[in-house]
Amino acid sequence: MTIAARSLSDSAIRTLVARIDRPLVLVGMMGVGKSTIGRKLAQLLDLPFRDADDEIEKAAQLSVAEIFERFGEPHFRDGERRVIARLLEGGPSVIATGGGAFVQPDTRALIHARSVAIWLDSDVTTLIERVGRKDTRPLLRGGDPAEILARLKAEREGAYSEAPIKVMSDTGPHGEAVNRILKALDEWL
Ligand code: S3P
Repeated sequence: MTIAARSLSDSAIRTLVARIDRPLVLVGMMGVGKSTIGRKLAQLLDLPFRDADDEIEKAAQLSVAEIFERFGEPHFRDGERRVIARLLEGGPSVIATGGGAFVQPDTRALIHARSVAIWLDSDVTTLIERVGRKDTRPLLRGGDPAEILARLKAEREGAYSEAPIKVMSDTGPHGEAVNRILKALDEWL
């Protein structure tokens, strides 16, 4: 990312990094950009990046869709919680979680206790457009993705809003959401 695209100077970023003593955990709906934004944020802060869904797939040697199909959602949520607990032990990092993780009370409690949760939000129209690019999400296979996304967003907003930091990701390129996160962290930490 160019210097011009950053909201904080290099030295402000260095002092911010020095204040980060826990993982930064991105939560929010599928399609909101948690993995892409998380990767950029980690790169800028020079922190390791972990994608919880990728780690679950590695641990299970199966794709998320296969885990849902073969063992069901409760089994997936159980593995998700254990993987996130392990990732949270690794010191400062940026962790992207799957959209349902922070909605599970036990997983949410773990994230609250050991990290700074950042809710990435965007309107449903943007989510629909972004998830349309991939067909890997089991929860969207059982019906009209637009309806499912609108319902899940409404059901989940209460949980997401417990995150201490909220950033919108629906306007402009992902770099802008990264800037908003940097500013919010600078104020919050
Ligand atoms: C899910 C979101 C997915 C993945 C799984 C369930 C959800 O992750 O964890 O398909 O419940 O919203 P993304 O948010 O990265 O798509």
